[in-house]
Amino acid sequence: MPIDAPSHMPEPDRPPRRARPAPTAESLDHEIVVLKFGSSILASEAKIADAVHEVYREVRNGRRVVVVCSAMGDTTDRLAQRAGEISDKPHPAAYAALLAVGESHSSAQVTLAIEAAGIPATLLDPAQIDLRTTGDPVNAEPESMAAGPVKHELNMGNVVVLPGFAGRDKRGFTTLLGRGGSDLTALFVAHSVGAARCRLVKDVDGWYDADPKQPGARKFSALTYDDALASPAQVAQPKCVKYAADHGLILEIGALGSETPSVIGAKETVKVPQGGPRRPVRVALLGLGTVGGGVLRHMLAEPTMYDVRSILVRDPSKYADKLEHPEILMTSVDEVFAADPELVIEVIGGTGLAGDLITRALDAGCNVVTANKALMARDGVALRSLADERGVMLLDSAAVGGGVPMLEAVERIAREHEIAAISGVLNGTTNFILGRMARGTTYAEALEEAQRLGYAEADPTADVGGFDAAQKLCLLSRIAFDPEMPESAVEVSGIESLAEGAPALERGFARRLVARASRRDDGTIGARVALETVREGSDLARARDESAVLIVQLADGRRETVIGRGAGRWPTAESVFADVAQAARRIDARG
Ligand code: NAP
Ligand code: HSE
Repeated sequence: MPIDAPSHMPEPDRPPRRARPAPTAESLDHEIVVLKFGSSILASEAKIADAVHEVYREVRNGRRVVVVCSAMGDTTDRLAQRAGEISDKPHPAAYAALLAVGESHSSAQVTLAIEAAGIPATLLDPAQIDLRTTGDPVNAEPESMAAGPVKHELNMGNVVVLPGFAGRDKRGFTTLLGRGGSDLTALFVAHSVGAARCRLVKDVDGWYDADPKQPGARKFSALTYDDALASPAQVAQPKCVKYAADHGLILEIGALGSETPSVIGAKETVKVPQGGPRRPVRVALLGLGTVGGGVLRHMLAEPTMYDVRSILVRDPSKYADKLEHPEILMTSVDEVFAADPELVIEVIGGTGLAGDLITRALDAGCNVVTANKALMARDGVALRSLADERGVMLLDSAAVGGGVPMLEAVERIAREHEIAAISGVLNGTTNFILGRMARGTTYAEALEEAQRLGYAEADPTADVGGFDAAQKLCLLSRIAFDPEMPESAVEVSGIESLAEGAPALERGFARRLVARASRRDDGTIGARVALETVREGSDLARARDESAVLIVQLADGRRETVIGRGAGRWPTAESVFADVAQAARRIDARG
């Protein structure tokens, strides 16, 4: 049995014997999606976060994502102008190389931002994927590419980011795919890697028959290739539409967060009336600490979507100078609810007040988003049934895995397969401490650092004692095995035994606090959190520092691994915000 394969009852922390290579097992297929962000989406550095939310939306739905980036804002025009200022007859290869800088720059920034949100991402460039072009060097046609490097990264669970617009000719010189060429890059890559969808993400939600700002402008829900090519509005690069037509590919055009893009390549062209303007969703935020602070920043960046009317804290003076409207900071629960929220976000933690507030919010018909695993493990079954009774949403994605969409992964897999076992590293704080200790830091110093970085719970006993991981394991097990599994069913031990120092490990091994659960032969669930020694290179060991990993073992022998950052402001805020956006879409649809 592989060392990190889940067994019926979790294995004890025993000394390693002999190093073996990491086990390999067939994993599940995933739909590949290509998202192209144009310069209207990447209008400025501040807007990159919106693109990251869109990537996360696909990732949490279990898709493998390729991102193709245009240059930011008016960068391409500025670079073209600069080339003209330097030379009235610019050499095509040098001109192309200068303009391609715009896409290199934006794609690197987007990769960094995706990583910072806790999603593993790899930046590749046209040379690495051998994106070969022919014809006019500044208005070239894509001819071939190596899909292998892209697929390899996707199979590793990484988002792949590529600069659009640029390729290489047969001598390796930089070429350009013409104005709007990132559209063509996206579709060409989608075709080459066998993607299920290719979406051009725009600042308007689709292809319109006139300027969408004009009253009476109508959106095409579907367009034939011919109608798209004949349309005076150039919403997608004509070369790209032509490529789609020549190869029978479907192209989507939609705004960020859209569930109703225009579909190009339909049999018939269909227009729909324009929807009315969205109104912002009224929000109450409970808590403004590590997680709440990040979620608030995301909401304030989208004032047309979110109207944050009240924020509950204990000590407003700590936060007042960071807010433009400090009057929304409140200490009275009644005042918070008097602001008439439709959506309540609970990020204060703990089980007492947080439980009362969520109950009150659900009772009042508010949708609720929470990151609170302690509360959900204790009272989640009752709270869910209250939410169902009231017909509202109770979303808790960030309660498990920080930015890693673990609950979603288990839910998706359980819908179609029998799950035999789950195992993982679920607590960022302890993993961070173990990583630091392996490099010589003391337990106390490492814990203090984890607290300072915002990974630890308010009372870190929950982390180091294994309770936080046990609560998360309980929430995962309810989806995988038994919807009513009590928290007390998990056997728990932590890492406190290492407080006085950790015995040396044999080379090639590492310590992890591992959570395991599986169904026993008698139908009961065995669940345990304990310190284990795992092989370097194994899936469990792949979770380093505050990262988290979950391995889902299917009854048919296949397995699925999800990995990313398990704690910290931005990964957790990304996950909470994805729930917030999901709830807001539902409120908007109803409103
Ligand atoms: P935090 O930094 O300690 O922030 C808690 C916030 O809640 C503070 O703004 C605090 O206000 C407020 N608060 C606490 N008790 C309150 C009370 N009785 N009345 C009013 N306000 C109160 O906590 P956090 O790290 O953001 O964690 C919040 C939740 O997210 C927890 O459930 C945690 O388990 C979960 N979570 C955290 C992470 C992470 O990486 N940090 C990851 C996933 C899930 P004052 O400052 O005024 O006291
Ligand atoms: N304290 C938790 C951890 C936060 O360290 O994993 C993320 O749930």
